[in-house]
Amino acid sequence: MADAISTIDETLQRAMAELSAVSTPDQLEQFRIKFLGSNGEVKKLMDLIGAAPKEQKREVGQKANGAKTTVQTAFDEKKANLSAGAPAASSIDVTEPGARPQVGNYHILMKVVDELTELFGRMGFNVASGPEVEDEFHNFIALNIPESHPARDPLDNFYLEGGQQLLRTQTSTVQIRVMETQKPPIRVVIPGRVYRPDTHDMTHLSMFHQLEALVVDKNVSMVDLKSTVTQFTKAYFGEDTKVRFRPSFFPFTEPSAEVDVWFPDKNRWIELGGCGMVHPNVFKQCKIDPDEYTGWAFGFGIERIAMRKYAITDIRYLVENDLRFLRQF
Ligand code: DAH
Repeated sequence: MADAISTIDETLQRAMAELSAVSTPDQLEQFRIKFLGSNGEVKKLMDLIGAAPKEQKREVGQKANGAKTTVQTAFDEKKANLSAGAPAASSIDVTEPGARPQVGNYHILMKVVDELTELFGRMGFNVASGPEVEDEFHNFIALNIPESHPARDPLDNFYLEGGQQLLRTQTSTVQIRVMETQKPPIRVVIPGRVYRPDTHDMTHLSMFHQLEALVVDKNVSMVDLKSTVTQFTKAYFGEDTKVRFRPSFFPFTEPSAEVDVWFPDKNRWIELGGCGMVHPNVFKQCKIDPDEYTGWAFGFGIERIAMRKYAITDIRYLVENDLRFLRQF
């Protein structure tokens, strides 16, 4: 009996070792014939049961059957692994739609920034930028916003420690930086982040983006401003887009207006931002002669523009990073 038992052990060990070396369907078939086929080695182990003396049949039987089950199970597993890893050529259906690999994409807001700078590029505008941490000169003083103006209230601004610098509240700061370094004619757009301690709701965030524009040249008029803004809204949102200008006030423009665009999905006007003719005091701060040059500017909320363009109902979707939202674009 010792012989029968050791034959079973030896066969089982050899079968498992050979099976672990199998790496192709062909080798697997060779293995099956050698061990599990009708003349295979495992089949022969069954013959040992018949040959064993009566009182040993039970032990030899258990051992042989156990070995057979072990080899068969390992074989089935190997077969499943091989077919999962490398499907036979004939099993590929080339007409099946492929499984798309999941790749990241550009955030919708950044796509809108690209679309806007590209559109204004075609209208002859260059792109400019400036720092997000600003001093009071660029955020207020040069923009003709006096010390006593409510916009300078510490509660309406994110001042940095020391109180000399703040996170810019408007991209109009970059108008000043451009005019300090460039001579007219100037024709720039400035996309960028701005910060205000506002409570978040459907149309407000405490960090959002503005698209600023500045044109300075001889004989620039309010008509140029209105026609550029109207042209832009129709080119970007569609020919039938309704736009309106409302008289308003900003310290750095005179006259000033606010621009509203009709949101058909909300059935109401939504403000894009402000605009106007550059105030002579602003030119003087930048050493540009207001008797020689005139200019216009606007500052629009980019989130609002994105919402109008892509029918986004709540501004907060743009910062929540919910992939179900982001993957739509
Ligand atoms: N900076 C203004 C704001 O954030 C918007 C604005 C108004 C920008 C008039 C301009 C302008 O360039 O001319 O509310």
